[in-house]
Amino acid sequence: MGFVIAVDGPAASGKGTVASRLAALYGYAMLDTGLLYRAVGVRLLGTGGDLDDAAAAEAAAKGLDLAELERAEVRTRAAGEAASRVAVHTGVRAALFDLQRQFTTREPGSVIDGRDIGTVIAPDAPAKLYVTATPEIRAERRWKQLSGQGEAVAYADVLADIHRRDARDSGRDSAPMTQASDAVLLDTSEMTIEQAFDAARRIVETARARSGNLPG
Ligand code: CDP
Repeated sequence: MGFVIAVDGPAASGKGTVASRLAALYGYAMLDTGLLYRAVGVRLLGTGGDLDDAAAAEAAAKGLDLAELERAEVRTRAAGEAASRVAVHTGVRAALFDLQRQFTTREPGSVIDGRDIGTVIAPDAPAKLYVTATPEIRAERRWKQLSGQGEAVAYADVLADIHRRDARDSGRDSAPMTQASDAVLLDTSEMTIEQAFDAARRIVETARARSGNLPG
């Protein structure tokens, strides 16, 4: 197993940016697991399926082609909402488990971001971060991102999405979003991207030194 950096946290907390910058810094492979759930949601909607139908969602997850992660459609607001609805189904999570677990074996290491990486997918990861920020700040970041993608949406609606997603992600029975007991909390509310990355890097450096995985 390579050196695994697990990055969990709620929607638009800055975890994706921090994760991809850490991956670039260390030359590790990067997996955004949110894209997997987004792609399952998009796939199901594309075939006219019902997001609350556990069997249909599981079938969509089993038939997922990784090329589908590259589609612009998976980055939309609707895809985020669909993702959190299919993500409650245990069968969907089980269907995506092996692919994610396999990723943890990448050498020299991997950065995996999601909701349950430190708790379920890679509980033995030597470095775990839980990245968060206030709902209002996260809504502002997500609103800017969606607007930049050309998606016209009101800030109030994005904030409502964030609250709904948080409740659904942390309230579900199957692998709910929660900070692993050994994860380091990183609140990026008052931080720029640069500051958040710097803080994350220091957390990972401490974990690398502790595990004997020192910079070569
Ligand atoms: O950044 P944002 O939260 O919008 O999206 P994401 O990270 O792409 O995740 C989309 C949805 O997928 C989340 O709201 C979760 O419901 C689900 N998800 C999950 O259940 N487990 C993961 N490891 C990653 C995402």
